[in-house]
Amino acid sequence: MNLLDTRLQRATLTPTLLDLCPTPDDLRGDVLAGLASTPKTLSSKYFYDARGSELFEAITRQPEYDLTRVEIALLQDVMPQVRDAVGGDAHVVEYGSGSGRKTQLLLAGLDSPVAYTPVEISREMLLASTQRLAQAFPDVQMLPVCADFTQPVPVPPSLMPAARSLVFFPGSTLGNFDDVQSLDLLRAMRETMGDDGAALIGLDLVKDVADMEAAYNDAAGVTAEFTLNLLARLNRELDADFHLDAFAHRAVWSARNSRIETSIVSRRAQVVHVAGHAFAFDADEAIAVEISHKYTDAYFDDLARRAGLRVVRRWNAPASRFGLRLLESA
Ligand code: TRP
Repeated sequence: MNLLDTRLQRATLTPTLLDLCPTPDDLRGDVLAGLASTPKTLSSKYFYDARGSELFEAITRQPEYDLTRVEIALLQDVMPQVRDAVGGDAHVVEYGSGSGRKTQLLLAGLDSPVAYTPVEISREMLLASTQRLAQAFPDVQMLPVCADFTQPVPVPPSLMPAARSLVFFPGSTLGNFDDVQSLDLLRAMRETMGDDGAALIGLDLVKDVADMEAAYNDAAGVTAEFTLNLLARLNRELDADFHLDAFAHRAVWSARNSRIETSIVSRRAQVVHVAGHAFAFDADEAIAVEISHKYTDAYFDDLARRAGLRVVRRWNAPASRFGLRLLESA
């Protein structure tokens, strides 16, 4: 087969994309506004350039960061129970473009899922992951939607009628949203899944403080490199002049907020230029870059209730290191 045939074949395999055209990221506007605010902030969504995505993969392999491994082992363990609780012919709607281990475990473990809809704002990631999954699951209709999942998402109708929608939101990504945003997100999810739908959510649970802090301060320094890579990206893409060795990664547990708060701290007083604008930093001044909420049942049950949802099943990993929760409409 020649190259053109291969391309044609790929084109026909490309699933139709429902493109709701979310507004493209405004890196420059967001960064200038974030650095001008008090305290300074930078959005964690900008971590994931090519190098950042690579470094995140490396984080998930660090001994201290066991979230991903523990969640995968838990999902594998309880999948037969998830299958019974969800029922047959579900339309799986994943928040974020899964393609990895978790999505495969879910699709392979459910009882004849009819369709799979990843919801993701990056068209590129969306298409790449759906194409990989289409090959592994030829009986599952791929219906990707390019949209912002913090808003209700219309689930495209599948050829084989679905019994219900199952929203899948693993990785404790909910914890990267603050209290107000996560309530809004769950309300939107309630709308996306509809009255008869369900949601399977992965949550990192409150545990020993030293363990939680170590997960974001691995000894090999991969997480530090990951957060500081954001500054390297701004140097490249916004003509900024951050000296990476003049900043430090910091991740600490906030008991008051029940979350790890990650920031980039200026090691000394300095002035940095970004896209022609000057920003002054005090010594020890922090730029807030990420929050990672850790959950208790009391907190999450209440959050779900306020969003019109209720927890119908809960599964915890050994020593309650991570949890999966199945939700339905209240
Ligand atoms: N957002 C994920 C989390 O909170 C991924 C992550 C791991 C991360 N380490 C980080 C994000 C450090 C920002 C900074 O677990």
